[in-house]
Amino acid sequence: MHLRDAQAEPVAIRREDYRAPAYWIDTVDLTFDLDPAKTRVLNRMRLRRNPEVAAEPLRLDGDELNLARVLVNGQGASFRMEADQLIIDNLPESFELEIFTTCAPAKNTKLMGLFVSEDTFFTQCEAEGFRRITYFLDRPDVMASYTVTIRANREAYPVLLSNGNLVEQGQLPEGRHFAKWVDPFRKPSYLFALVAGKLVAREQRIKARNGKDHLLQVYVRAGDLDKTEHAMNSLINSIAWDEARFGLPLDLERFMIVATSDFNMGAMENKGLNIFNTKYVLANQATATDADYSNIESVVGHEYFHNWSGDRVTCRDWFQLSLKEGLTVFRDQEFSQDLCAEPSARAVKRIEDVRVLRTAQFPEDAGPMAHPVRPDSYIEISNFYTVTIYEKGAEVVRMMQTLVGRKGFERGITLYFERHDGQAVTCDDFAQAIADANPESELARLLPQFKRWYSQAGTPRLSAHGVYDPVQRSYTLSFVQSCPPTPGQPFKEPFVIPVNLGLLSADGRELPLQLAGEDAPGAGTRTLVLTHAGEQFTFVNVEAEPVPSILRGFSAPVILDHDYGEAQLLTLLAHDTDPFNRWEAGQRLALRAAIQAIEGPAAGPAEAPLGEAYLDAMRSLLRDPQLDAAFKELVLTLPSETYIAEQLDVVDPQRVHAVREAMRVQLATGLFADWERVYEQHRETGPYNPDPHSAGRRALAGLALVYLCLAARSSGDAVWPGKTLQRFKDAGNMTDRFNALNALVSSGHALAAQALASFHAMFRNEALVIDKWFSLQAGAPDRGGDILPLVKQLMKHPDFSLKNPNRARSVIFSYCSANPGALHRPDAAGYVFWSERVMELDAINPQVAARLARALDRWSKLAEPYRSAAREAIMRVASKPDLSKDTHEVVTRALA
Ligand code: ARG
Ligand code: ZN
Repeated sequence: MHLRDAQAEPVAIRREDYRAPAYWIDTVDLTFDLDPAKTRVLNRMRLRRNPEVAAEPLRLDGDELNLARVLVNGQGASFRMEADQLIIDNLPESFELEIFTTCAPAKNTKLMGLFVSEDTFFTQCEAEGFRRITYFLDRPDVMASYTVTIRANREAYPVLLSNGNLVEQGQLPEGRHFAKWVDPFRKPSYLFALVAGKLVAREQRIKARNGKDHLLQVYVRAGDLDKTEHAMNSLINSIAWDEARFGLPLDLERFMIVATSDFNMGAMENKGLNIFNTKYVLANQATATDADYSNIESVVGHEYFHNWSGDRVTCRDWFQLSLKEGLTVFRDQEFSQDLCAEPSARAVKRIEDVRVLRTAQFPEDAGPMAHPVRPDSYIEISNFYTVTIYEKGAEVVRMMQTLVGRKGFERGITLYFERHDGQAVTCDDFAQAIADANPESELARLLPQFKRWYSQAGTPRLSAHGVYDPVQRSYTLSFVQSCPPTPGQPFKEPFVIPVNLGLLSADGRELPLQLAGEDAPGAGTRTLVLTHAGEQFTFVNVEAEPVPSILRGFSAPVILDHDYGEAQLLTLLAHDTDPFNRWEAGQRLALRAAIQAIEGPAAGPAEAPLGEAYLDAMRSLLRDPQLDAAFKELVLTLPSETYIAEQLDVVDPQRVHAVREAMRVQLATGLFADWERVYEQHRETGPYNPDPHSAGRRALAGLALVYLCLAARSSGDAVWPGKTLQRFKDAGNMTDRFNALNALVSSGHALAAQALASFHAMFRNEALVIDKWFSLQAGAPDRGGDILPLVKQLMKHPDFSLKNPNRARSVIFSYCSANPGALHRPDAAGYVFWSERVMELDAINPQVAARLARALDRWSKLAEPYRSAAREAIMRVASKPDLSKDTHEVVTRALA
């Protein structure tokens, strides 16, 4: 076992140091003798020198392996070890290399490489887990053909899976059996997978457009088969969508999904053998919420789409991670939108995606971990599976689509896969292909500047200012863009920013748009392409001072500042034809009220931050029969504490919490009669269906219950809490049941205890539901510091386990990362708790620990006494001697 030398500073890997590998691996023939305590791995490879680089020794990566034997062309070879690398000198031009190692999957709590979960073997190799299975050139640009033989006890491990096609299986002596798999596609080591255990599968045979047959399988534990229908349907929909939208077919005879309850991440796109966290596979109406159903659809789609964007064309090096992740998130977002029957449901999905971007990625881009979509350096690549790489990366791809049009983008994708099929490439290659397929486009014209989105970190700020000239009947919009410094990047060059724009009249009509110099006006939205630090656009024939609707559909990942008057925002909220900007106007109004109250006189929490005009607008929106329930739910949900905090230079988290709570109470009491009506009108009666329309109705009914219970809390009324408890008891599906439970818990009502106890009793054998039970409590609104003691209690519950990432997240992350009002305590006890958990987790699972370590990323914005106390807690973690490089990198950057 090789542990990192505690004294040595971990070294940064730099993008500019990329060198092609000195050797290629053409074939890999792996034989596994599976045993939880000691698994034996025989690795036979054919290698050849890369003629394009100067001769050098072969350096193979390894991690926590026991090496037994190394043979070159069948002969014992001399080798040396340098840290974790196995080095062989004086090799011939091409040769066979045989390496025999053992590892201990049962002891693998890092859940990288080969590990055991509930008596089943699983692998996770991305990014650098394959080196924990055998010595290898563990980098994505080395692509090989794999043959895998798995041998194991027949009774304990009846199902033996790996990538590709099953070519042989049979019995072995002593109750053992074997299976041999051949993957028809060359692949990098991070896409290798193996699964062995007692599993059952839901199967479906489908015929693709070209007439080929495919076998689809979803493998789970025996009791979970009744929760696999939705995942299977999502897979079938994904296959059909990729073929219809991008002409990309399923290229495998057999496509498998396997679920495990111990997983560091959401899921993994191993070629032909996707491995998923159970959270993103298992669902039935009794145990999963609408949100779970929709997440499953996205994640199944995401992993399936990787089969092309990731597997057929992969990354040259890990700095290019967004090449596959940004593109694949974009693809899964488009997939979910395209599945929506109604245009309003598409808009709802877009709003939800932007909300994630702004509450998670914008803070990342403004904090110590800020990095470009294509980073320049890293210490531990696992730390760079971030919202910047994924979500901002998807926005960059979306802007390309905006600049070349939907059809043009499809042409670009076609060219990209034609040009690079079977290769490991870069973000530059991708952008080039989209531009080359659209030579007349703005993207092609502006490509080098556009690519600053890949190289410059930080969220650009765009300020817009409009001036109406009544004499000329013209309207001039001026834009100024800037981007704040980020670590290592003090100055930024201007970005290419596509701004989708419309103009409304003061009474809310969409106005025709005619730029000065144009012959005729055009209708609806148009895209202005900004390229300079400052620029102006003048519209002519504008009848009266318009209300600009800027950045429709959130056409670029920027912060838009515009000096809107309240009346203008109310006009946009009531009338904008762009649902995104309609929602955005409501968010701006609420945000403004919140900031005013937060910055107002510090004596006592502002009693009523929201004005009558806002409440009236919300009331009429709720009553509008034309609007979709899902959209209403989004508009009536206030900006999160995290998002509010991001707008402030100095953050007093308790004040933010108090003000937002006061706003919630205002919405609850001020709209009480409407909430009653909304609840009665939207409570579901018919059979359960997770489609967006029905889910939207349940979401709005759930929000109504939250406000009704909250109002009851202030008035002391017992009717609604009673009704909510009844709803909890006779709900026909998990969404309604959980929403009722949430209403009781989040309003802090006395009936919550009883409901929580019965919820636990009802679902004690459903791990994913028990996760919800933990997470709801740890994430509940803090009242007088009551959450931290509760969280400590929850950690002593017999169902709690630190080793299971889902469970650890449900308690610890729900508190530390998702409950600012409870974490930031004047007595610093929340930070002490955080630091202890980071250190405790670090010894078990560095990836999970490093994620938790990021909960205090934004410490330097905090007001005193929080700021100093948080810093002290981070320093305590940083000074721990044998910290993993994962956590080390996060806390060092936080303190830099
Ligand atoms: N590629 C996987 C996905 O579909 C995630 C892998 C995450 N790996 C990691 N080391 N965090 O997004
Ligand atoms: Zn992915």
